[in-house]
Amino acid sequence: MGGYPEVRPRRLRTTPAMRRLVAETRLDPAALVLPMFVREGIDDPQPIASMPGVMQHTRDSLVRAAVDAVDAGVGGIMLFGVPAQRDATGSAAVDPEGILNVAITDLADELGDSTVIMADGCLDEFTDHGHCGVLDDEGRVDNDATLEIYAQMAIAQAEAGAHLIGPSGMMDGQIAVMRRALDAAGFTDVGLLAYAAKYASALYGPFREAVDSQLKGDRRTYQQDPPNAREAQREIELDVDEGADIIMIKPASTYLDIVSLARQITDLPVAAYQVSGEYAMVEAAAANGWIDRDRMIDEQLIAIHRAGADIILTYWATEVATRLRAGA
Ligand code: PBG
Repeated sequence: MGGYPEVRPRRLRTTPAMRRLVAETRLDPAALVLPMFVREGIDDPQPIASMPGVMQHTRDSLVRAAVDAVDAGVGGIMLFGVPAQRDATGSAAVDPEGILNVAITDLADELGDSTVIMADGCLDEFTDHGHCGVLDDEGRVDNDATLEIYAQMAIAQAEAGAHLIGPSGMMDGQIAVMRRALDAAGFTDVGLLAYAAKYASALYGPFREAVDSQLKGDRRTYQQDPPNAREAQREIELDVDEGADIIMIKPASTYLDIVSLARQITDLPVAAYQVSGEYAMVEAAAANGWIDRDRMIDEQLIAIHRAGADIILTYWATEVATRLRAGA
């Protein structure tokens, strides 16, 4: 009788019900966050060609789409602003009347504490040169001058009603400076979602269109170099020490080792951002009939979760939450 396996892992794969029963990880709508774009000075939502299905919203359509997301069970909204005017210091970012700040208040008025309202704490959407900070005389991004503006930006967003601020500019010390500013202004309950390990990635391409970015050149003097993982560990440890509430890794699918590392080295919640290029690649392949779209979306999201992300930012959040709730 020799030669037959005594252990048969296939037994647990026999039926959909069996596979569902033994699934080690599951997606939960409450752990999905929808990134959204609001643009100043438009009368109708504008499609983003490289991100089919994603819009630059008007203030009104933003609120409607955010309500739909929350009704679908999505756990939070991450908001990006696209201003009508830009300048060298990104002054619309700290202006209470700036598009991002007024739209945070729109969301806060409509949704209150029924969801978690997050805002991008970065200058690149607001500067006329498209960098995440202000420039010095030689045209380099000036870390410490930028931090002063980030501190004001954090307070403006907290005053507008944000629950969490997501500094995505990769300036050294940004978490400490924002934490101190928020505390000094009495916003001790407003948290920091730290883009702790953020890589200089080609996957941000479609986002440039989404925010009408003015950037020429790249962000390699502040975002991380793709070959480096130990450097990510240092960045994560620094942000934890500086007072981060949640650690985020970005992009997600090409940095799953870093997501897993983050999960091991901190007890804080770990988030991962499935960015615009990850979205665009799947949509483009699916539009050509080259890939099963829904299966691919689920596989990408479960992989990010399996690697260790508790929270996932994804442009598919509303759709996936709806599908998960329907049990499909
Ligand atoms: C910077 C920021 C970017 C993204 C989120 N925050 C652009 C960049 O770093 O170049 C990219 C998100 C995406 O690609 O979906 N404010």
